[in-house]
This record gives sequence, C-alpha cells and structure tokens, in this order.
Amino acid sequence: MQAGTLVVELLMQHRATLFEPLQLPCGLTLKNRVAKSAMSDCLGDGTGHPTAEQIRLYQRWAAGGTAVSIIGEVQLTAGYAENPGNLVLDEASDLHHFRQLARHGGENGTTLWLQLGHAGALAYAPTSIPKGPSALDLPGLRCLEMTLDEIRQLPSQFARTASFAQQAGFGGVQIHAAHGYLLSQFLSPLFNRRSDQYGGAIANRMRPLLEVIEATRIAVGPDFPIAVKLNSSDQLEGGFDNEDALEVAAALDRSSVDLIDISGGTYFPGAKSASDGTGRGPYFLEFAKRARAVTTKPLMLTGGFKTRAQAEDAVASGAVDIVGLARALVLEPSLADLWKADRKPEPFFPRFSDAPERGITAWYTMRLAEIAADKETPVFGDLGQAVRDYEARNKSRTKVWLRHFANDAVGQT
Ligand SMILES: Cc1cc2nc3c(=O)[nH]c(=O)nc-3n(C[C@H](O)[C@H](O)[C@H](O)COP(=O)(O)O)c2cc1C
Repeated sequence: MQAGTLVVELLMQHRATLFEPLQLPCGLTLKNRVAKSAMSDCLGDGTGHPTAEQIRLYQRWAAGGTAVSIIGEVQLTAGYAENPGNLVLDEASDLHHFRQLARHGGENGTTLWLQLGHAGALAYAPTSIPKGPSALDLPGLRCLEMTLDEIRQLPSQFARTASFAQQAGFGGVQIHAAHGYLLSQFLSPLFNRRSDQYGGAIANRMRPLLEVIEATRIAVGPDFPIAVKLNSSDQLEGGFDNEDALEVAAALDRSSVDLIDISGGTYFPGAKSASDGTGRGPYFLEFAKRARAVTTKPLMLTGGFKTRAQAEDAVASGAVDIVGLARALVLEPSLADLWKADRKPEPFFPRFSDAPERGITAWYTMRLAEIAADKETPVFGDLGQAVRDYEARNKSRTKVWLRHFANDAVGQT
C-alpha cells in the first residue's frame, strides 16, 4: 500500500467531526473545522486601512463560532489591488487600525488570518497598470509583462506583509494562489507564456509560489500559520488543470505550509468563478480526495457548502480536515454556532435568473456591507441594484485611493 493511500485509510477510520479541534503543523490548534473563507469585503477606507464597519463584520463572524476567519485580498502594495476597498499592509500602514481589526476579529477563540493578494493581470484598472507573467491583449483583459526583477521581488514583498500581519496581532496568513490572480496566473499556461525559469513546465510555473512560501516562513518563524489557497483547476480549456494542481499539492507537501485550501475557477473575464456558482455543492470534493493521496498537509475545501450534512460528510469522509464557507456565512454569520447547536433551518440561498457576470458576487459583497452595519434584513433585495451600488462605491473609493496613493507609483511594485 502506498504512503498516501495509507494516510487516507487511517483518516477514514477516524471519522473526524466538524466540532473537533485540529492541530496544524505549526502547533496552532483550531477550535473546530469550520472556516470563514477569504472574501474581499471591499470595506477598506480607500487608503488601505480598515474601517469601523469592517472591524464589526469580523467581530460578528468571530462571535458566530468559526475557528478560522480569513480576510480576502490584503495587498502587499498599492500597485496591484483587486479593488479600491482592499486593505494594503506595508511600511506606510498605520498599524494601530490593523491591531483593532486583529483584536476584534480574533475574539471568541477565532484565529483571524490575512489573505495576501496581488491581482497581477487582473489588477483593478482604474487604480493600476495591470501586469502579469506575460503580456496579454485579449477581450476584456490587457496587461503588461513583469520583468525578472519584479518577479524576484515577490518573495520579499509577501514576507514583509506577513511580518507586519504578525506584528499587528493577526493569527496567520493565507497566500492567494487561486482564482486567476498573480500566483495563479503563474501556475496557468494560459496566462504564463514565459520561456525563462518561471514558465513552461509546471515545476517552473510553481516556482514563484514556492519562493514566496519559503521567504514568508523565514520572516514569520516556525509557529505562525501559513496557508495556501490553490485552484484544483481554473476550469479553462488549456489552463491549469487537475494534474498540474496535484503536482503543486505534492510540492506543497514538501514545503512549510500548514494548510492547503482547495478551490477552483477564475475571475478571468468571461470565465466561471466559484463565487458565482449555482450548482449543487460541495464543489472540488473529488479533487480533494486525490490531493489527499499526495499530501499529508491539512486540507480545507471551499466551495458550494450549503448544509451541515454536507460539511459533516466531507470531514467525516476523511477527504478534508476543514470546511470553508463563504456565501453561507454571508447569509448567516453565526452558522457555525447554529450548526453546533443543531438549530434549523439551514440558510436559504437566493436564486437569481439572468445574473450578469460577477453579479452574484457583487450581491454578496453588498450584503457584507449590511452585516457590517448591523442592518441586514431577511429580504433579499434586487441584484441589479446591488451591482449598481457596488460600482458606485468602487468609483468613490477609487477617488480616495488615487488621491491617497498619488505619490506612489501606482502600477509599479
Ligand atoms: C463576496 C465574495 C468575495 C470573495 N472574495 C474572495 C477573495 O478575496 N479571495 C478568495 O480567495 N476568494 C474570494 N471569494 C471566493 C470564496 O472564498 C469561495 O472560494 C467561493 O465563494 C466559493 O465558496 P462558497 O460556495 O462557500 O461561496 C469571494 C466570494 C464572495 C462571495
């Protein structure tokens, strides 16, 4: 019997439960197996700092019983943000505000992590000059090519922001290598057409990710959790596929990461994203089972979980250790505690007909603003209006962002 198969067998015999603790390789013990997956809440103040509403949002998730809560898309620099409501954590940041966020979002035994992001070719064009592994000129997507020097700076940029996160009192970091953003662009042959040591074979395409992990681990030491969010595939013809993803999972097994968060899909214009997904979940479970055979690292699976039974089954099957919830925790921020208390009914997921691309994600994003303001209503509201509100807010935050970062070379690392 192969070592990976043996691990799967042993885990299956144990049949872990959702509300059982889990110890990560760095030594941190999570109080249960329910995580609030990374979401770009877009509630930053436009200067890269947290707002009172944003702090309240993470306080509510912590109060609701999740073991891990991950803030989406915290930027390493102002140059390649995904949205002008992103946080930016660098040497110019006022750590006082971040400390408040870390303190309240980490109440009730929750560990609050920052997802470290760089949008690369998908950087928000009104505040950036998008740049990826290779220059592209496609419908809806134009970007420049990063120089070798810029690629070589990435590990120290990730490491520096991780180190600030640790200083500010956050419990860990997640390196974003999914959904079509920079590190996932490097992984995908569709975005990465380089012929140097960072392009071509999958061993080269994963080099930036592995270098980032190595530098980040050196910066934060052995006891601080580092997770990676990895696509099982970007679900595009000729893109990053399951076989590539298994090779990356095997390489991550040999690295110092504490957790692999499995996802899929991309925000590439015209493509399928998991957060707009309407299918019956959970998504990517079959891939997680295959990943289990190539790594003994703890696995988290994010995508499509809607009921406690689905979450329990995924953990009890031994395929994954932690269940990641995004939209379910927007619909019900206290879902972990409600599941623990066996309270029904499950959250009701709205169905939208004729949703425009990214419309569903925009709807959930605006719902986050309601939770943050303690103003959510049981009425779902209009999707078209949510999209208009989302765009109007982006526009006003863009003005603040451009004014604030005027002296930085926006679009440069
Ligand atoms: C409003 C919203 C914002 C999101 N932002 C991020 C993000 O910043 N980083 C990330 O890795 N995933 C992000 N996602 C994707 C989720 O983490 C998750 O992978 C996806 O929604 C599928 O999980 P779900 O079915 O539980 O929603 C976002 C999802 C939503 C709904």
